[in-house]
Amino acid sequence: MTAGIERAACIGGGVIGGGWAARFALNGIDVAIYDPDPDAERKAGGMLDNAERAFARLFGDDRPAPGALRFAGSVAEAVDGAGFVQESVPERLDLKREVLAEIDAAAPAGILVASSTSGLLPSDMQRDLNRSGRLLVGHPFNPVYLLPLVELVAGRDTLPASVERAAEIYASLGMKPVVVRKEIDAFIGDRLQEALWREALWLVRDGVATVEEIDDVIRYSFGLRWAQMGVFQTYRLAGGEAGMRHFLEQFGPCLAWPWSKLTDVPELDDGLIDTIASQSDAQAAGRSIRELERLRDDNLIAIMEALERSGAAGWGAGAALKDARQRLRKRRG
Ligand SMILES: NC(=O)c1ccc[n+]([C@@H]2O[C@H](COP(=O)([O-])OP(=O)(O)OC[C@H]3O[C@@H](n4cnc5c(N)ncnc54)[C@H](O)[C@@H]3O)[C@@H](O)[C@H]2O)c1
Repeated sequence: MTAGIERAACIGGGVIGGGWAARFALNGIDVAIYDPDPDAERKAGGMLDNAERAFARLFGDDRPAPGALRFAGSVAEAVDGAGFVQESVPERLDLKREVLAEIDAAAPAGILVASSTSGLLPSDMQRDLNRSGRLLVGHPFNPVYLLPLVELVAGRDTLPASVERAAEIYASLGMKPVVVRKEIDAFIGDRLQEALWREALWLVRDGVATVEEIDDVIRYSFGLRWAQMGVFQTYRLAGGEAGMRHFLEQFGPCLAWPWSKLTDVPELDDGLIDTIASQSDAQAAGRSIRELERLRDDNLIAIMEALERSGAAGWGAGAALKDARQRLRKRRG
């Protein structure tokens, strides 16, 4: 049992719903998944295999006995007896509203409902709900079973107590909840990621670099800095001993130069799609998605473990890992 939750319901069991189901189950919580795709059970099984492998490497004997994972035949059946509901259906407002209304009708009052949406506003999703005060956004990052961040976003009707309780539940799953102060499209993480991605698409379209060269520029340099200090603390150091003020004086004026494409979006026409897809195939060098997932997981584990050893309390994602490890050890007694 974690933060008072014995059973969770995952509505939608794809990349994200399957990742949530694995995180719940591997923290000892029983999970019911509802997903109408006949292939959903196989896909979620693959996700659980990856997650089990990652948890074994990360936590070894500190792991709790896993919760049972079952597939339900309907939203109502999945939600029955659940202490928390996580919705992860495809990113369409009409579908979200329909499924959330079904969840709302089935889940008793007091049971929180969180949506994994990448950018829809919770106020828009609350429109047709009777108990809209318990709905919030709990936006994770893929792979959900490994990356600690979850962005919490309240809508117009969301009760502050719902946000507090959700933060408690997510923290008990080894996550780092960050409450977004204002309700905006795409929240914080995806707004930042999209800005970078848009620039990267322009660079490919303009023939400046291949997808592999762009990834190299990120992963051999500022990607490493971002993983441990983010952007502002990194730039504080870039200002030398004079710190952030000096950095802003020196590089602030560049913002007015045409360095970036700002909000222009390149047209994703057939030519650009072919270029990106074929360069991405070459970059994968024959490795399957499953192989790449395992490589990614091993690398993420290595980075988080290194950050866990930074200082007494760990640093960044390493601090979240240290907390998770201590929590699991305490539970084992
Ligand atoms: N993929 C990511 O990196 C990512 C990251 C964070 C958040 N999200 C968000 O998570 C949500 C799900 O995205 P995904 O990437 O897992 O998509 P996905 O396509 O992998 O999975 C969606 C699943 O929902 C199922 N589904 C469709 N209709 C349903 C219904 N009526 N009831 C229950 N299940 C239904 C589908 O069969 C599918 O398995 C979206 O809101 C997305 O924006 C995605």
